[in-house]
Amino acid sequence: MHKVIYDTDPGVDDAMALLFLHRHPEIDVIGITTVFGNASVETTTRNALFLKREWDIPAPVAKGASVTIDAARAEREWPAMVHGDNGLGNIEVPHTIDLPLDPRPAHRFIIDTVRANPGEVRLVAVGRMTNLAMALKEDPEIAVLVKDVVIMGGNFYVPGNVSPVAEANIHGDPEAADIVMTAAWKVVVIGLDVTSITTMSRSYLGAMAAKGDAAVKLLDGLSQHYIDFYTHAVDDGMMVHDSCAAVYVVAPELFTTITGAVRVVCGGIADGQTVIKPDGRRFPPGDWDGLPSQIVATGIESEKAIDLIRDTLLRA
Ligand code: BDR
Ligand code: CA
Repeated sequence: MHKVIYDTDPGVDDAMALLFLHRHPEIDVIGITTVFGNASVETTTRNALFLKREWDIPAPVAKGASVTIDAARAEREWPAMVHGDNGLGNIEVPHTIDLPLDPRPAHRFIIDTVRANPGEVRLVAVGRMTNLAMALKEDPEIAVLVKDVVIMGGNFYVPGNVSPVAEANIHGDPEAADIVMTAAWKVVVIGLDVTSITTMSRSYLGAMAAKGDAAVKLLDGLSQHYIDFYTHAVDDGMMVHDSCAAVYVVAPELFTTITGAVRVVCGGIADGQTVIKPDGRRFPPGDWDGLPSQIVATGIESEKAIDLIRDTLLRA
């Protein structure tokens, strides 16, 4: 059984990945931690509680960061045109959800849970990397106690989605992402190289909803606004970014990967760009030297990943 802490900013594609993690028989979601990104942390936390309630997910929810790790960074607008004003595609969501939050902040929840399960926890992080960086700063030793960190973020050999060179989760807190990429833990980076070619059409999701239970119907409803947004890039469908990271947890064989030290550009016109120095490539001494080798996904069997998502979501 894979013990997963899901660090997330729900978020439409975050919601699909949550249902995947919850329904996969080999995954035990032992905690959900929230972060700002697709909306404010108040909203993403409310959304996590809403989905927990609607989908009957037992895992505790801990509220996380509301600002970048470098608090001097300017705030940016929420991507309402992607995820809706409420982060869940503008479906009706109650203002508050009558469920308790874990009393700890997300980064503390991560530290305690990793320490209670040494060598076992897989962190699946699909929002900004702020909570993970805060956990590392407060307790650097957790790096060797975590099994691995699977993140959705970055782009290596394809363009970005919030600038020509940067992807949203990394661009939202580049300093935090650089801390996460360069720490002495095993990071698997599932970026736009694979997520932007992993798309689900409106009709495929609609067919799932017709077959599936109320949870899948809710997912279908909250995804419509996001699918409308993606019409500029996808033929009546959506990129299922965060679910690709969730799929990696149980089906790494669907991915092609390379390894190497990864750095994040912090500042300037390439703010938030992720850059790998592939293992074995020789360069003069530089900023990638002596850092841990991480795993970066460069290819995916998209159709198999999409079918795995469908089959898992339809297991009620
Ligand atoms: C990432 O940014 C958010 O919009 C999505 O939830 C995903 O995690 C894609 O760049
Ligand atoms: Ca996300």
